[in-house]
Amino acid sequence: MSKIIINGNKELTGEVKISGAKNSAVALIPAAILARNKSIIYNVPEISDIDYLLNIMELLNCKIEHKNDSLIIDSSNIINKPIPEELSVQMRASYYFMGVLLAKFGKVEISFPGGCNIGARPIDIHIKGFEELGAKVEIVKNRYTITAEELKGKKIYFDFPSVGATINIMLAAVGAKGTTIIENAATEPEIVNVASFLINMGVKIRGAGTKTIEIEGTKELDNGVCEVFPDRIESGTYIIIGALLGKDLKIKGIIKEHIEALLMKLEEIGIKYKIENDTLTISKCDNIKSTYIKTLVFPGFPTDLQQPMTTLLTQAHGKSIIEETLYENRFKNTYDLNRMGAVTNVLSLNKLEIKGPRKLKGTKVIATDLRGGASLLIAGLIAEGTTEIENSEYILRGYGNVIGKLKSIGADVEICE
Ligand code: EPU
Repeated sequence: MSKIIINGNKELTGEVKISGAKNSAVALIPAAILARNKSIIYNVPEISDIDYLLNIMELLNCKIEHKNDSLIIDSSNIINKPIPEELSVQMRASYYFMGVLLAKFGKVEISFPGGCNIGARPIDIHIKGFEELGAKVEIVKNRYTITAEELKGKKIYFDFPSVGATINIMLAAVGAKGTTIIENAATEPEIVNVASFLINMGVKIRGAGTKTIEIEGTKELDNGVCEVFPDRIESGTYIIIGALLGKDLKIKGIIKEHIEALLMKLEEIGIKYKIENDTLTISKCDNIKSTYIKTLVFPGFPTDLQQPMTTLLTQAHGKSIIEETLYENRFKNTYDLNRMGAVTNVLSLNKLEIKGPRKLKGTKVIATDLRGGASLLIAGLIAEGTTEIENSEYILRGYGNVIGKLKSIGADVEICE
């Protein structure tokens, strides 16, 4: 159990460099299994979810070499093995081994994935997609055995544009005979990142980033090279921190088009920033206005920034409302925010009211999930006095070198076991 200790209310200045995106990297690494033998993935973030994923890669006999922030993955001696529950529950992204191993071997045995407890998070759309490609799925006590003598490409309609299902079916479709078309696909940047990697290996994919994606099954793949996109959620988190405590704080490595919904919302509530090339500069805003936010799939306001944004809105003048449409259990952070002096009320299962501005005071709090942990971290940074965040491992799942980055811009923050 680790604990982050913050002495808050320090002005933050200097430059933070954004790492590679967690939710891209966790799909790109399993995707490397499809390459002929070696792949290079640049800009891999230093987060614990990647370590968990690499344990599964090693179980399957892939050789992994780290070079700075790059991974060289040699999958030439891969063996298909059942993935034990203790590995698959470590993170959500273990579900990508379903698509990849099905494409490569026509068989996979794995347990239901883990990940943050922010809702039920079923994987029925993934399973329905595999079945439509011709796979047989057996589920015994959360253990999935998926087999296919031959996968056959076809047109598949998703009832919801799920990020994970879009990537998983794209991966499985590589091993299918003929063309697979996904209708109502997710359009998040992660999809484009994974499609570019597969295209680099020689797979023909059209339409990634739009609602219709076409994948042609491909037998002989090349080695793959790709770079993980900068993390749009980490970018957004540091931008929020800059709006609360920054003095010309520079956030380097952003892609504006990936965070447009956040940027437009910040403009609407009076927060100013400047973008030059890939660097955004932001300073503390003393007069933040209240607002209404509804989380949506891309390009709407991302659910993963909802909890960090809640902390920002505790400093806004007036009453804000957040409507969370993706997950039914993503307001747990508000319990501790209120203990720090915020005034938030859960109005219904998916609606939160935030009244501001309120001065926050440091106290002992507990992170309950990754982005909820980030919300408390931001609260600790703006609070008077000392905040201790228990269960801070959650934060380390998704924010690379967070302590080093925050210290380098002037925060008084430590981590201890
Ligand atoms: N859903 C279903 N059935 C499915 C799949 C999804 O009902 O088969 C529902 C989910 O329960 C949820 C919604 O659809 O209500 C969205 O789920 P989606 O499949 O799009 O999300 P995911 O693949 O489980 C990824 C990220 C999440 C991020 C979402 C949305 C990874 C490993 N996780 O999850 O990241 O919130 O996309 O962008 O890529 C985080 O980083 O904190 C995080 C939770």
